Amino acid sequence: ENMSETKSPNIYTEIMSTIPGRKGCWPADLYQYEGFWYGRYTIEGILSTQDHFKPQPNSVILSSAPKSGTTWLKALSFSIMTRSHFDESTNPLLTKISHDLVPFMEYQFLSNSQTLDLNVPLSATHISYTSLPKSIINSGCKIVYICRDPKDVFVSLWHHSQKSVTKAREDLHLENAFMYFCEGLSSSGPYWDHVLGYWRASLESPERILFLKYEDLMNDAVYWVKKMAQFMGYPFSFEEEDKGAVQKIINLCSFENMSSLEVNKSGIAEIQLKEMVIRNNIFFRKGKIRDWKNHLTVEMAMQLDQITKQKLNGSGLTL
Ligand code: A3P
Repeated sequence: ENMSETKSPNIYTEIMSTIPGRKGCWPADLYQYEGFWYGRYTIEGILSTQDHFKPQPNSVILSSAPKSGTTWLKALSFSIMTRSHFDESTNPLLTKISHDLVPFMEYQFLSNSQTLDLNVPLSATHISYTSLPKSIINSGCKIVYICRDPKDVFVSLWHHSQKSVTKAREDLHLENAFMYFCEGLSSSGPYWDHVLGYWRASLESPERILFLKYEDLMNDAVYWVKKMAQFMGYPFSFEEEDKGAVQKIINLCSFENMSSLEVNKSGIAEIQLKEMVIRNNIFFRKGKIRDWKNHLTVEMAMQLDQITKQKLNGSGLTL
C-alpha cells in the first residue's frame, strides 16, 4: 500500500487537463470519470491508485460516498481490528482522527505526510465500485460499504461545503447545491449510483462485501459492530462479549466521545492534500439521523425521496 514514490505523476495531471469540468455541489468543480463525478485531484488519485494499489491479502477496504459515515466507519473498523493491542485509554483514536489512521487510497499519492506504520490492513476509498483498482477485485479482499439517507447526506455535504477551506462557497446557496445534488453533481455522485454499485456487488458476493446503513448502525450498534467484526475476520469471543468489549468500542467511537476529543475539536489532519488544510472538526457536525428536517423544505424532501425511489426501484434496497 506504499505509494509514496508516485507523487502526482505528470501523466495523470496531463490527462486531467484535457477533461472539461462542471460546477457542482461539492467540491466546486467536478470532473466525470467512468460515470462518476469527482474533484480533479481525486481523479488523478484514482488513476494512480488503479495503476499502483496493491492490497495485502488480508486487507479490508472501507468504502463510502462522502458524508455517509466514513469517519465513523473508519474509527469502528480500526478499533475492532486493533483491540488486542490497545484499550480505551491507549487507542490511537484518542490522539488522531480516523482519517489519519485509515487513509483514503486515492489521496495517498497527494499527501505530504507519511502515514503511520501501524501495519493495520485497512484502507479506505470513495471510488465507485466499478472504478475500484482491479487488484482489489482480483485479490478478493473484503469490502465494507456504508450508505445513508440521501437527505441527510445532502445536508451534511452542504454544511461541509460551507466549512471547507478549499474554495469559499458562500455563493452556493442551499437551493443551488440541492439542485446539483439531485442531478448527481456531487463528489462520488450520482449518490444513488454509487450506493447501487456496491449494493448489487454485495448481493452477488455477500461473503466479500458487507453493506451497512448509517441508520442501522445508530439504531442497533451492538448487532452491526459484531457483524462487522465477524465479517472482517476479527470476531468477538464469548469472553470478550462478557467483558463488554463490543460496547466499549461503540462508546469509544461514538459521536459524543469522538467530537469532544481535543484532536477532533482543534486538530489539523496530518494528511494534507496539496495546498488544502483540513481541519478535523469539519468531520464532526451533529451525527444525528434525520437532521435534514431542520434544513430541507417538505418539497425538497419529497423531491429527493422521489429520486431515491425511482433510482432504487427494483433493486431491493430502500434508503
Ligand atoms: P452530519 O453532518 O449529519 O452531522 P463522513 O465521515 O462520511 O464525512 O460523514 C460525516 C458525517 O458523519 C457527519 O454527519 C458527521 O457528523 C457524522 N459523524 C462523524 N463521526 C461520527 C460518529 N462517530 N458517529 C456518528 N456520526 C458521525
